[in-house]
Amino acid sequence: MRTQVAIIGGGPSGLLLSQLLHKAGIETVVLERQTRDYVLGRIRAGVLETGFVNLMREAGVAERMDAEGFVHDGTLIAYDNEQFRIDFAKHTNNHVVVYGQTEVTRDLYNARDAMGGTVIHGVSDVELNDLTGKPYVTFTHDGQSKRLDCDFIAGCDGFHGPSRQAIPLDVRREYEKVYPFGWLGILSETPPVDDELIYANSERGFALCSMRNANLSRYYVQCSLSDSPDDWTDQAFWDELKRRIPEDAADKLITGPSIEKSIAPLRSFVTEPMRYGALFLCGDAAHIVPPTGAKGLNTAASDIHYLYTGLVQHYLHNDSNGLDTYSQKALSRIWKAERFSWWMTNLLHRFPDQSAFDIKMQRADLEFLRDNDAAQTVLAENYVGLPY
Ligand code: FAD
Ligand code: DHB
Repeated sequence: MRTQVAIIGGGPSGLLLSQLLHKAGIETVVLERQTRDYVLGRIRAGVLETGFVNLMREAGVAERMDAEGFVHDGTLIAYDNEQFRIDFAKHTNNHVVVYGQTEVTRDLYNARDAMGGTVIHGVSDVELNDLTGKPYVTFTHDGQSKRLDCDFIAGCDGFHGPSRQAIPLDVRREYEKVYPFGWLGILSETPPVDDELIYANSERGFALCSMRNANLSRYYVQCSLSDSPDDWTDQAFWDELKRRIPEDAADKLITGPSIEKSIAPLRSFVTEPMRYGALFLCGDAAHIVPPTGAKGLNTAASDIHYLYTGLVQHYLHNDSNGLDTYSQKALSRIWKAERFSWWMTNLLHRFPDQSAFDIKMQRADLEFLRDNDAAQTVLAENYVGLPY
């Protein structure tokens, strides 16, 4: 089998790249380890930057997102019983769109089907070969060994995939920070507690009130890394959430049975470089942010933008500059999203080793943000997304 761009991983990064390239007349084959249902069952990100939204439009898959996504012009930040608003529209003339990663992925799969794109599910033993020569990918499918020859490989296989490991250790440098807590998230078929998201710092730990649609809410509480979702009954979750958000919100919170409950650990991680020979890393394969700034999926999208632009320049205009500068451009934006996510995480969580002084610093940071227009602009510009 041969294709121009072999894409490893059929999550949002791999599918979006495949769809954009196909529209530009560039062939791809996507190799995905899981079934489609499994990929669609993962409840993850919910907030899209306009850069992401524009890429979905360019890929011709924005119809449902434009009809059903919610434009958010601001967000609420709470601490103890106080709450203030960051007005994105005022500070940036921009907004974000609330539309779940599950729906993004579903739209992309439907579009791939409609265009006859090749997505091979259930592959195993994926190996990347001859990255500095004539690249090819080997894998097992339906019990048979297969080989896919290609010009380039896009490693879109998430944090645990094989692509990053294919960059030799003497070339690869990894930077990591692991946080001493996780997020317990639930999805419930109840109306959201507010029209906007509430990010709450409380002495019992962080909480986030988010949503998917008018009757589907997504809530998170900071939890211990040793907790398991089974340790938390729905009632225990709702009780804890109510203790961490302002009383007004707690009083109007409508609770119900959870339809999904999971714990995500928090990590900051970046690998450099993001290109090695014919291999280009994208999304979680190259970097992870703690979810506090809603940047995970959005940083994946900026990588796809740079790689897509570089591949189009290469194939359609015989110009390698976009590919040659891919790693540098992608990383320059990634590090800024890493900084923002790290800062938001530090601002809003309780850390086990936090001293009384550290808590005073956090409070001063929150009050400065509440009172200072420039600080609000900095948060708003980062939250809606830095330019590509
Ligand atoms: P992924 O979505 O991980 O997709 C990678 C794909 O590669 C997967 O489908 C996987 O099955 C496939 N794959 C892996 N190994 C192989 C292999 N060997 N062969 C073939 N295929 C392979 N971001 C936010 O902004 N907000 C959130 O609330 C949020 N919550 C999250 C919760 C969890 C538990 C996790 C893990 C992430 C969360 N994120 C969140 C981050 C966000 O979901 C990711 O940044 C986003 O999914 C990245 O997309 P991706 O396509 O790069 O990687
Ligand atoms: C959601 C997740 C986030 O990490 C975030 O910062 C905002 C919203 C969500 O799942 O809706």
